[in-house]
Amino acid sequence: MTDVDLAAADHLLTTTRAVRRRLDLDRPVEPQVLLDCIRIAQQAPTGGNAQGWSFVVVTDPDKRAGLARLYREATGDRFHLAQQNAREQQTARVYGAAQYLNDVLDRVPVHIIPCLKGRVEGQPPGSVAGFYGSILPAVWSLQLALRARGLGSAWTTMHLYREAEAAALLGIPADVTQVALLPVAYYTGETFSPADRPPPETVTHWDSWGNQPG
Ligand SMILES: Cc1cc2nc3c(=O)[nH]c(=O)nc-3n(C[C@H](O)[C@H](O)[C@H](O)COP(=O)(O)O)c2cc1C
Repeated sequence: MTDVDLAAADHLLTTTRAVRRRLDLDRPVEPQVLLDCIRIAQQAPTGGNAQGWSFVVVTDPDKRAGLARLYREATGDRFHLAQQNAREQQTARVYGAAQYLNDVLDRVPVHIIPCLKGRVEGQPPGSVAGFYGSILPAVWSLQLALRARGLGSAWTTMHLYREAEAAALLGIPADVTQVALLPVAYYTGETFSPADRPPPETVTHWDSWGNQPG
């Protein structure tokens, strides 16, 4: 027995995709719905229950334009070239969508930059894992909560190549690490399907590496 509606939970978990082309660029997002989603994200686990997270929500058009400029400086023509050189159709589609997002980023009504207090440069692997492990589950919870309310988002990291400039633009303190930039908007259309993934047995190692289950 479980108190979870398994069908609804599985549907949410398997159909929360990177939304780029279907972001409604014209519909504003109510601040309250964003706070509701951040409240849910705050339920995520953190190492030592530290809860050192912050979520910088950017709706100011000039600041979004500034972030989009930094993002584009970092991407250059990388997505365009990757799309042209892709061997598989699915990969070409992803890079085409990434290029589209790159081009319209300033017009996406909300950017959310999840942050974590601390810097991890030069730390040993365990510390790095503990650090990012204390924010990334919250980011995914945020994306799931947004999706459940009709809002799409996409995990992006390109602006982090210009992290210091983004920090200056938004007044983010020097001892705080930005971990992503989520463009957020209501999505258009209701058709979301699970992505193609290989059978779980092919990525599962039972008792020792290389040992398949069953
Ligand atoms: C760590 C990470 C970094 C990513 N960076 C970018 C990015 O900078 N720009 C972008 O358009 N998508 C980015 N993505 C989105 C991935 O391209 C996307 O998740 C992947 O293609 C799978 O698609 P799906 O999420 O719809 O299953 C990133 C995803 C992750 C997890």
